[in-house]
Amino acid sequence: MRHWTLRTKLTLWYAGSVGVISLLGTLLLYYGFSYVSSRSIDIFLREEAEALGNYLSLTPRANARTYIAQLVAEKDVFSGHQKYVQLRDSTGVVIERSTNLLDRELPLPERTGTPAREEVFATIAFPNALAVRLITLPIVSQAGAAFFVQEGVSLEGEYAFLRNLRTALFFFLPGMLGLSILSGRLMARRVLQPIETITREAQTIEALDLTRRLPVVNPQDEIGQLVGVLNSLLFHLEGAFTQMRQFTADAAHELRTPLAVLRCGMEVMITRARRVEEYQEALSTSIEEVSRLSRIVDNLFLLARADAGSQEFIRGLVDIRELVQDVYEQAELMAEAKGLGVSLHTNGEIFVQGDYARLKQLVLNLVDNAVKYTSAGGAIHLAVEREKGWAKIVVEDTGIGIPPEALPHIFARFYRVDKARSLDTGGGGLGLSICQWVAQAHGGTITVRSQVGAGSTFVVSLPLR
Ligand SMILES: Nc1ncnc2c1ncn2[C@@H]1O[C@H](COP(=O)(O)OP(=O)(O)OP(=O)(O)O)[C@@H](O)[C@H]1O
Ligand SMILES: [Mg+2]
Repeated sequence: MRHWTLRTKLTLWYAGSVGVISLLGTLLLYYGFSYVSSRSIDIFLREEAEALGNYLSLTPRANARTYIAQLVAEKDVFSGHQKYVQLRDSTGVVIERSTNLLDRELPLPERTGTPAREEVFATIAFPNALAVRLITLPIVSQAGAAFFVQEGVSLEGEYAFLRNLRTALFFFLPGMLGLSILSGRLMARRVLQPIETITREAQTIEALDLTRRLPVVNPQDEIGQLVGVLNSLLFHLEGAFTQMRQFTADAAHELRTPLAVLRCGMEVMITRARRVEEYQEALSTSIEEVSRLSRIVDNLFLLARADAGSQEFIRGLVDIRELVQDVYEQAELMAEAKGLGVSLHTNGEIFVQGDYARLKQLVLNLVDNAVKYTSAGGAIHLAVEREKGWAKIVVEDTGIGIPPEALPHIFARFYRVDKARSLDTGGGGLGLSICQWVAQAHGGTITVRSQVGAGSTFVVSLPLR
């Protein structure tokens, strides 16, 4: 059963249930019919026997033989069936019987005995003949004499009818089964047709052409819903694929420019012999350039691992105040070199669950930006706050700010507001992408407020432990 096609399974289920239902229906029909027909024979027998008994008991000079002959010859519902009539006296001796009994006798039912009070039905069989349904009815005449009226009717006709019914049903059942297999197959084909269409369509979609969508015939039915799910899967795949391609292209582009600058510088240096100081200066510029490059590559590597989900976090209890204090000390060094002031505000200890090194990298990236995009004389302010189940880390600067139209993009990979300017400030445009990834991996968020010329404020919210 496991390896059968859905179509075969559906067909078999359908045919099987139709088969069982028709079998039950047939049995019910057959037994119901035979019950009703035997009941109606009994009722008929009682009516006739009672009529005969009444006639004989009320009419003292009645001619039983004539009446019986009439009764047997009567054309009624059971005409065509042999009818037998017999009278017995109270001791059970046969006193009259219809001529068609010949030398046979309708037997006295054993249970009755004499004197019996109740009618008794029995099905008997004459030797070499068919079954006969028999009633034995005790009658007490007005004169006080008791006797038995016995009437039998041959069951030949009923048996023949039931035999015919059996034969008919015997052919009906397999016919029904055959028909249901046929219609089951048809039904299964109709139901499965849309699935086959989808399978064919889906086979033609190639990995590089994820813009294609599967056709939806009826969005309400189950197959329509399945196709809807498949299409949204394709949509997401397409998005991820495009993003991946974009990422690769951007990465290549980002690396090409600094590499070209590096090469140019070196080529210029070796055109002729130079003084030692010149070499030293050129080499130190190259080292700066190379370390910038390797920072970009490190960031790229980190994001690639994050995408692949293989970047592990070392989770532990992190004291945010201690972390920001750490960053603050580094920030002082960075700011001093540029002539910026740094301040720190903390209030009580705040703990979150997370990776200390990654969270520190997040705040450092923000401070790095603040230093980079604030000109001499400006100030940077760090703060840690607690607010309704969240730990908030604020990095504020009085720098150049970010134009409103750039705000929605600054967390995107490789995005920089001013490409030309940041070439010499050394940004790869990956810092904030990494910040956002770390914040989200900790169940937190990062938001920004900024005004051109006035400064920017970045707020990282992390769920409190
Ligand atoms: N504090 C800030 N003030 C003004 N502009 C900012 C600030 N922080 C970020 N930006 C803008 O957002 C852009 C993206 O920042 P991000 O940190 O992602 O890249 P980057 O600093 O240029 O390079 P990287 O961080 O990879 O060295 C920056 O290029 C800059 O234009
Ligand atoms: Mg940065």
